[in-house]
Amino acid sequence: MQPIIQVQSVCFSYAAEEGKKPAEPLFDHLSLEFEEGSFTAVLGHNGSGKSTLSRLLNGLLLPQSGRVLAAGYDAADEENALAVRKTVGLVFQNPDNQIVSSIVEEDVAFGPENLGLPPEEIRRRVDEALRQVDMTDYRTHSTSRLSGGQKQRVAIAGMLAMHPRCLVLDEPTAMLDPRGRREVLQTVRRLNREAGMTVIWITHYMEEAALADRCVVMQKGGVLLDGTPAEVFARRQVLQSAGLDMPPACRLAFALADVGLPLPCLPLTEEDCAAALARLLGRENNGEGTGAWQN
Ligand SMILES: Nc1ncnc2c1ncn2[C@@H]1O[C@H](COP(=O)(O)OP(=O)(O)O)[C@@H](O)[C@H]1O
Ligand SMILES: [Mg+2]
Repeated sequence: MQPIIQVQSVCFSYAAEEGKKPAEPLFDHLSLEFEEGSFTAVLGHNGSGKSTLSRLLNGLLLPQSGRVLAAGYDAADEENALAVRKTVGLVFQNPDNQIVSSIVEEDVAFGPENLGLPPEEIRRRVDEALRQVDMTDYRTHSTSRLSGGQKQRVAIAGMLAMHPRCLVLDEPTAMLDPRGRREVLQTVRRLNREAGMTVIWITHYMEEAALADRCVVMQKGGVLLDGTPAEVFARRQVLQSAGLDMPPACRLAFALADVGLPLPCLPLTEEDCAAALARLLGRENNGEGTGAWQN
């Protein structure tokens, strides 16, 4: 099957500021593909090119050479512009910059209205999208009174109402509190699992990346690592040299290995870590740990 997104030998530079010499190309023959239905986390230090990549994926930016294909449509072809925007929905970091109406359902209707769809189809899509992000009860609420996580879910609903096949989210949880982060991540994971939505999740949070099918680590406009979370987070030295952290469970596993207690496999979540430790210890309780600190 053809990947839903194909980045083929893309070269891209931002225009030079007036009076300054041209910046080095950010992407120099970058190639990447994303399979339909996959959940990929994109990681990388500030300035590594993650946001630029997200804008190339839905045609907001165009490469100087090479091609970006979304569902086979070349974003550089003017006549494909709408097809590309409808295929790839982009969600940004700050939900306040994406909300355009003061009422939740009006905000979600904005995209489909611009597509010129009939009112009954718009109604159907808005109801469906609000249900998908679990915001139906807030349908008639004022957008300005929502929490950050709720606003971000409304912004996602606005994209879903366009019926995209792929969602690209550029650090969608960076401005949210822990609860908002959980809400948004759970919503998007459910969309991926249940609706088969292709997800490209750009994040700074390693524990979010640990839940993806695939992690792509970018550095200076190139791909430094690309693999499953277990493959990527096993590369401690490479990650350190790129100035990147690891999920807490991996950090603990490496610390245990450093003191001579290597776990049977690299855990990615706290639950994995607890299970691996139990196995390592043969589930024995020698009486030292009473668990009396729990309440
Ligand atoms: N609009 C722009 N004009 C000029 N340079 C930019 C612009 N946006 C980003 N850059 C530069 O491109 C590089 C990659 O930026 P970006 O894609 O935002 O990376 P990331 O999202 O990984 O932090 C950085 O060096 C940044 O300064
Ligand atoms: Mg960015």
